[in-house]
Amino acid sequence: MTGLHGEITIPGDKSISHRAVMFGALADGLTQITHFLQGADCLSTIDCFRRLGIEIENTPEKILIHGKGLHGLQASASALDVGNSGTTTRLISGILAAQPFETVLDGDDSIRKRPMRRIMEPLSMMGADLISIKENDCAPLRIRGNALHGIHYHSKVASAQVKSAVLLAGLYADGETKVTEPAVSRNHSEIMLRYFGADVHTTGTTAAIKPQPHLTGQSVTVPGDISSAAYFIAAGLLIPNSEILIRNVGINPTRDGILKTALAMGGDITLLNERREGEPTADLLVKSSSLHGITIEGDIIPTLIDEIPIINIMAAAAEGKTVIKDAAELKVKESDRIKVMVQYLTTMGAEITGTDDGMIIEGGRPLHGAVIDSHLDHRIAMSFSIAALLAEGETKIKGSELVNISYPSFYDDLNRLRR
Ligand code: S3P
Repeated sequence: MTGLHGEITIPGDKSISHRAVMFGALADGLTQITHFLQGADCLSTIDCFRRLGIEIENTPEKILIHGKGLHGLQASASALDVGNSGTTTRLISGILAAQPFETVLDGDDSIRKRPMRRIMEPLSMMGADLISIKENDCAPLRIRGNALHGIHYHSKVASAQVKSAVLLAGLYADGETKVTEPAVSRNHSEIMLRYFGADVHTTGTTAAIKPQPHLTGQSVTVPGDISSAAYFIAAGLLIPNSEILIRNVGINPTRDGILKTALAMGGDITLLNERREGEPTADLLVKSSSLHGITIEGDIIPTLIDEIPIINIMAAAAEGKTVIKDAAELKVKESDRIKVMVQYLTTMGAEITGTDDGMIIEGGRPLHGAVIDSHLDHRIAMSFSIAALLAEGETKIKGSELVNISYPSFYDDLNRLRR
């Protein structure tokens, strides 16, 4: 196996791209977004806001949002299609809960299985009229706007989507709204809402927002997505004789669990050119390393929740045991990531056992090629693409085109580093 060499620039962060469109739509005046992620999920958000009456120009260099202020959205003539995007569904629900019209939200087969009770509960406590049309706590959802009250919500899960939905509804409430979570989830909403002019405060695991701010259009430069960089961090570490430079990676501490984990496993990663453009960003120099197993649990879990599939691949190639705990949220992502990772890593020859809230991997077994079904889950497709490079023989990934959701140029970038 030849090593990976050269450099890549990571596409824009998915979470931050969604938020820039949403907050730009609710702000007065023009918002300009550069390095926006042109992935299917973020395009779903653009499509939803266009249907709600916002003019959005999408050019290869930038996105221009002609915001109409907090009260400028209009009813959509048809149901909003959120595609595969949980972030679009949950965040937009917080906004729609306060609009003076009715909206129906629907998406693909994966979205129709994702739990929505987690946002229906706090939004209903605020006074929202929000139902699951099939009464199964999943999309399609029907949302009728209402007058909302501020609440202090204690979330059972550390979820940025839940926190953000409540904070966005809080923009329209009659008093302050607070969310306390069991551990801090990604804080991009808090950072960017403040940048647009909202009054947002955080103390420990609580975020608070004051209602009816005047939001003003801004220029947003989206950093590269550390969740996308994770596949190249893993590939650079695991494929012998590799040395790659991964440019423009967002390293917000609520997202950098993959870096801490890779370093703790013995990975050779150097942060270069650290800078701050709204969000902290750096370039990563990654060299092949011998990894060893570790235990990953507790408050670090929300900071690497989307990276657990690729961490599983790292653990399968590492020496010794890796234990992942406190990650039951994996079951309700785009697929049940505990079940799917255990099934296909086992098929490829790894020793992995699923638990109620994670998995245990005995690393070091050789992997062999297999047929993998990505289960409508982009992160499963990308994780097994890296596993395929480590395996003896051919691997076929059904649904590999799903990389389109968060990283359309994934295979081009990977192939460029292999030349
Ligand atoms: C996201 C939050 C996380 C993450 C998802 C994107 C966001 O979900 O898994 O990919 O942009 O807020 P939860 O908040 O449900 O954990």
